[in-house]
Amino acid sequence: MRKPVIAGNWKMYKTIAEAVDFVTKLKPLVASAEHCEVVVAPPFTALRAVADAVKGSNIAVAAQNVHWDKEGAHTGDIAPGMLREAGCTHVIIGHSERRQDCGETDEQVNRKVKAALAAGLLPIVCVGETLAEREAGKTQEVLERQFRAGFAGLTPQDFSRIIVAYEPVWAIGTGRTATPEMAAESHRFIRGLVRQQLGEGVASAVRILYGGSVKPDNVKGLMAQEEIDGALVGGASLKVDSFSALVNFPQA
Ligand code: PGA
Repeated sequence: MRKPVIAGNWKMYKTIAEAVDFVTKLKPLVASAEHCEVVVAPPFTALRAVADAVKGSNIAVAAQNVHWDKEGAHTGDIAPGMLREAGCTHVIIGHSERRQDCGETDEQVNRKVKAALAAGLLPIVCVGETLAEREAGKTQEVLERQFRAGFAGLTPQDFSRIIVAYEPVWAIGTGRTATPEMAAESHRFIRGLVRQQLGEGVASAVRILYGGSVKPDNVKGLMAQEEIDGALVGGASLKVDSFSALVNFPQA
């Protein structure tokens, strides 16, 4: 049985005060959610304050990026140990916005995943094709390339601590969700890649989240797919009402 994960990626939204206010209101609304794990990913500046505010609750805190070195001359970057110290348990790696805005490569994703694991963080690793790639019939080729390079050299034990997020780039922030069947097809393909590289046990246990315009009115259809183990949510994670509705999806 794979326990679903509902993760909110706040991107470059929310001041410290707004972030603390958000989780303070969220806590009672999701306190009885035992069917899934709840994760929020605030901007770096709000991590410590949010981690303090959720202490003792069922809400975990993720960062949105990490550097692979323990420390060093990397202006503007944050090391894995620093995220742990700030109260993070998870970190999002390889989001398409970082691949597009910052030129992040699959090789960098791989180094970040290994560094995060070594520091005791649980990576949420994003893969997904662009619209042009999908229309050219290259979705599986892109997923396979991102998977093989991004997850190179990982052991089954490593993989037991990794969450994968399938996020078709054309569905992010566009209101164009993949249909549950389209998403499930890619999830099945990714799970097949895990099976090839790491065996059946790892493949059947790894959680694969869907991301891309997940909203309270489409979450139930997505979660009804056996292959979909949760959601990585941008826009709809910014409001307490919609994010708590997503967490409480069985009642939607
Ligand atoms: P969205 O973003 O829910 O706003 O489409 C998803 C993501 O980027 O993780």
